[in-house]
Amino acid sequence: MTTTAPTGTPTSDSSGTDVRLTGISKRYGAFTAVHPLDLVVPGGSFFALLGASGCGKTTTLRMIAGLEEPSTGTVRLGGEDVTGLPPYKRPVNTVFQSYALFPHLDIYENVAFGLRRRGVKSVKKQVGDMLDLVQLGDFAHRKPQQLSGGQQQRVAVARALINHPQVLLLDEPLGALDLKLRRQMQLELKRIQTEVGITFVHVTHDQEEAMTMADTVAVMNGGRVEQLGAPADLYDTPRTTFVANFLGTSNLITADVLDTSGDDIVLRAAGSKLALPAARCTVTARTGEKLLVGIRPEKITLTHADDAGTIPEGRNRVHGRITEAGFFGVSTQYLVDSPVGTGLSVYQQNIERDGRLVPGADVVLHWNPGHSFGLDAAQSIEAGTDAGEGT
Ligand SMILES: Nc1ncnc2c1ncn2[C@@H]1O[C@H](COP(=O)(O)OP(=O)(O)OP(=O)(O)O)[C@@H](O)[C@H]1O
Ligand SMILES: [Mg+2]
Repeated sequence: MTTTAPTGTPTSDSSGTDVRLTGISKRYGAFTAVHPLDLVVPGGSFFALLGASGCGKTTTLRMIAGLEEPSTGTVRLGGEDVTGLPPYKRPVNTVFQSYALFPHLDIYENVAFGLRRRGVKSVKKQVGDMLDLVQLGDFAHRKPQQLSGGQQQRVAVARALINHPQVLLLDEPLGALDLKLRRQMQLELKRIQTEVGITFVHVTHDQEEAMTMADTVAVMNGGRVEQLGAPADLYDTPRTTFVANFLGTSNLITADVLDTSGDDIVLRAAGSKLALPAARCTVTARTGEKLLVGIRPEKITLTHADDAGTIPEGRNRVHGRITEAGFFGVSTQYLVDSPVGTGLSVYQQNIERDGRLVPGADVVLHWNPGHSFGLDAAQSIEAGTDAGEGT
C-alpha cells in the first residue's frame, strides 16, 4: 500500500490485506442464510469456503464483494471498513462460474476491459503479461466461443487479476469443467495465486478441491462455519460429525466411556475396549457417558481372524465380517459389518494382498489408538453423508 496509515492503525503486512468479517449475517425474511459469522482470511492466503448446496457460501462471498447487503456485521478489507461501499469501490474482483466473458470481444480485449474502463491508455504490456500468466498468449485474438471451457476460465481469471484486486473471489469457478480439466485447473489456479500472491477466496462444494488448493478451509453447514483450519488438521481432527463425514470418509463408533483418568480415554463399544487420546477429543469425556470414536478408513488394518494372534499389543481392535471388497488398483476398499457398527469402511494399499480377505471372511480391524478422534455423541452420526446431508 502506498498510503500512510493514520497513527494507531495496525500497519503490519499481514493485516494489510486481511479480509475480516465480524458478526456478518444475512436474513431473507424469516430465513437466515448466514448466521452471524466471524472470519479472518489472512492476506495472501488461498482460502476456501466449503459446504453442501445451499449452506450460504455464495451469500458470504457476495457480502465480501458488496453485491449483497449484510443484515448485521461488518466487512473489513486490509483494515478498512468497506461495509457501506458499493462493489466497484472495493478492491475486490469476482470470477463467477459462468465466466461472463464478452462474446463479441476477443480475448485480448476481454482482458483489457478493466484497464480501458479506467481510462488506462497503454494496456499492451499489462495485457501481454496477464495472458502469459494464464498461458494464453497465443490465443489473444480468438473470441471466447473459440476456446475450451478451461481456457475461458483462465481468461476470466486474467480479466479479474488485471485490475490488481486485493482479493479475488471465485464462486465455483471450475464447476462447468469435466473432472480431468477440473483437476488441471486446480493446479493452474494454485500456481497463479502463488505467483501473484494476492488473497483468493474460493467457494466450492468439492472437498477434494478445497483440500488440494487451499491453505485454510472453512467448512460451512446450514449458514454457519463448523470448523476452520488447514486441510490436514480438518481431516485429522474434525470437530463435528458433519466435518468428519463431509471431508473424506469417517467411521464413527458409539462407545461408552469407562475411564478418563489417563492420557488416553478408555471406552467400550459392543464388547471391544478402545482407547482414544484425551487431547484428540472435542468434548469433555465423562465416565458412564457416550462418545463417538472416529477413525479414517486408511488408518485401519484388516487381519484375517485366523491371524488375530499376530496383531501387536496396544492397538484398538474390533471384530467384523467383510461384506464387500472393491478393487481399485492401488488400493482395495472393504466394507465390514461389526458389532460396533455396520458398513465400516477400510482402505488397504495393495502391497501384499491376502487372498482370504473376501466377502464373508471374518476379520479383525485394528489401528493405532493415536489416530482416533473423539466427538460429541449427541450429534447425528450421519451428518454430512449422502444419507444425512445438511443435518
Ligand atoms: N435472494 C434470496 N432470497 C431468499 N433466499 C435466498 C436468496 N438468495 C439465497 N437464498 C437462500 O439462502 C441459502 C444460501 O444460499 P447460497 O446461494 O449462499 O448457497 P450456496 O452455499 O452458495 O449453495 P450452492 O452450492 O448451491 O451454490 C439458500 O437456502 C438459498 O435458497
Ligand atoms: Mg453458490
